[in-house]
Parts: sequence; C-alpha cells; structure tokens
Amino acid sequence: MQDQKIQIFDTTLRDGEQVPGCKLNTKEKVDVAVRLEALGVDIIEAGFPISSPGDFESVEAIASVVKNATVCGLSRAVEKDIITAAESLKKAVRPRIHTGIGTSESHIKYKLNSTPEKIVERAVAAVSLAKKYVEDVEFYAEDAGRTDNEFLAYICEQAIKAGATVLNIPDTTGYCLPDEYGAKIKYLADHVKGVGNVTISTHCHNDLGMATANSISGVINGARQIECTINGIGERAGNTALEEVVMVLKQHPYLKKSTNVDSRQLNAISRYVSDTMRVPVQPNKAIVGANAFAHSSGIHQDGVIKKRETYEIIDPKEVGVDHSSIVLTARSGRAALAYRMKNIGYELTRDELDHVYKAFLEVADAKKEVADDDLHQIAENRHKVAV
Ligand code: KIV
Ligand code: ZN
Repeated sequence: MQDQKIQIFDTTLRDGEQVPGCKLNTKEKVDVAVRLEALGVDIIEAGFPISSPGDFESVEAIASVVKNATVCGLSRAVEKDIITAAESLKKAVRPRIHTGIGTSESHIKYKLNSTPEKIVERAVAAVSLAKKYVEDVEFYAEDAGRTDNEFLAYICEQAIKAGATVLNIPDTTGYCLPDEYGAKIKYLADHVKGVGNVTISTHCHNDLGMATANSISGVINGARQIECTINGIGERAGNTALEEVVMVLKQHPYLKKSTNVDSRQLNAISRYVSDTMRVPVQPNKAIVGANAFAHSSGIHQDGVIKKRETYEIIDPKEVGVDHSSIVLTARSGRAALAYRMKNIGYELTRDELDHVYKAFLEVADAKKEVADDDLHQIAENRHKVAV
C-alpha cells in the first residue's frame, strides 16, 4: 500500500506572526514564503488581508511570487473580509480563501452574541461568497475543539454544500486530549455527508503541550491536512510545530503517511524564521533545538560513540544538522573525552587518558562546558601530568 500524502499547510506568516512583537515587513514575509515553498509545503497561509494595508500588500506580493504552493488568505465570515482576501489573491496561481466562524457554545453566546442557526447561515453565506472568487475554499469552525460534535458535523455539512473544499477543525484553545481530538475527526469523517470529496484539516494549539500529539491523532483518524508553523510559533503557547509533525510521520513509516517536505531543510528554515522574527528557539526544542542532537552524560555519550542509534532516533543529517555533538561536562566519561581529543588531533594512550581525565574533571567542575581550547591546554600539559 502506498503512503497517503498529508498536505502541510504552513501558517507561520499568519497564525505564527500573531506572536507579540515579531511582526514582519513585506520583504521579510516574501523571503519566508520563498523558503517555505522550497521546503515543500503544500499551502502557505500568507496573512489576513483585511487586518491592515501592510498585510494586504504582503499577501499580494506572496501571491505573485509563489508558483507551486497554494497561497491562502484568511477572512472572517464577513463580506468585506472575503472580498478583500479575494482581491489580494488575484495574482496567485493557486489561490485559496480561508473563511469561517466560531462554533462552540461559548463563541456563539459570548463572542458573537448569536444563535447556532444564525451561525450556520453566516458560515454558508461566507463560503458561498468566497466560492464566487476562487474554487478552493477552506471553512474553519473556530473552537471546534470545544464544539459539540453533532453541531460541528451539521455546520461542516452545510459548508460542503456551499462549496467548501477543505474543513478546518481548530482546537483553538489547545484544550483537547489526543484521543478526544482524534475521535472528533473520526466522527466527522463518519457522519458528514460529502466529506469524502473534501479534505479534513487539523489546526491545533499548544496550550497544554499537545498540539503535535493532537495533529497526529487527527491524521490517524482521517484528516489529510495539518496546519502548523515553523518552530511551533504562534499566539500564547503557539501552534503545532511543522518540523515535529513532519518528522513524526517520517520516523513512523508504518503509519503509511508522508509529506512533500524536504526534511533536510528543517534546521536552516528554523534558524531563518527564528532570526527574522527574533523569536529564539528553546535549546531542548524537538528536532531543531540546539541540544536536539547533543549528548552530555557519560552513559549516553559512550553509547552514541559506539553506535549513534543507541540514543538517537533521528539521523541529524535527515534534518540538516551535520553531526551529533558530544558536549563535555563534569558528567562526561573517558570515552567522550578520548573521542573529542581525537577529533582535535590527540590520540591518547590508556595511561595518558587516565591522567588527562583527572585534569579534565578539574576544569569541568570549574566550568559549565569544556571547550576545544581547554582540551588543547590539557593535552599539551599531559606530559607534565603523566609521570
Ligand atoms: O485557531 C484558530 O481557530 C484559528 C482560525 C482562525 C483558523 O487560527
Ligand atoms: Zn489558530
């Protein structure tokens, strides 16, 4: 059986850019979009065109540069939003309008001061209007994570009848558990008429640290598109991290799901987005963190030096990192010291290593990390140390 292709919908430039203080200008956004296209994402959500003249200009500029990926613009279920989104996407080879409305009880009652019937009417009107401008219309049911499944299925069915090609099921507040989110997707896949002709999409937020798990649970249960951002950036605790879902699917081939993303570019694009948006990546971040392939305890170092796979499930080259690193600290053992000494040109005998190791521990206890310069000094002094 062939792998099923999961579409990667990148929203770094829209949901990701909602991180306070990391607004990009048009040129920076176009540069990110060009890199996303080269990375192999299928859809680029370029912005929210009605939100500001700058965002309109950025979506328009991205739409005229990107040739292979679909370019998407967000809108609320509001006429002016949809017309503006359509206008900004005129030059796109593959335009998509992403429109929708809150569907949970709390959104309907408190945010929209409305009723379920009126929300369905607005959803249908929005999709129908968007459909006049573009063939590809994605409907989002905001706060679907906390929406009653029966109502969610009903509104999704009406959106399909109005012409939606993609149904986006956002866990807007990052509330769902993986089983619960997966069951929601399965419920829609089983109960919505016409769902076989459209794509169900996941859109998970990370408020409880479950965005990646929920997205994967979604695709296991029938979703064919994942919405995500580079480095998982986004408002509050962020969105699903693109690099994580791509590598989960790659590292678990029995799931029989793959993406078009070239994983060897992940490290480079992570750094680029982090630098451009001035949002640092936490060192222990999965896949792209500075420590993702660094080993510092003696037991792990000994294992990795003997065979990398003992403590690494991903070959760092697969994500564009040259090699694993052996970090020397007071927790490191002789094997790691000998390995790093050899890398900088010192082949030590067993006795030399014993003596040098004592000197190394003194430096390591005084410093957080022992650098190559320290090693050179220790090695040059080894004959003074050795009797
Ligand atoms: O999280 C969310 O619900 C969204 C929608 C606007 C798609 O970002
Ligand atoms: Zn979102």
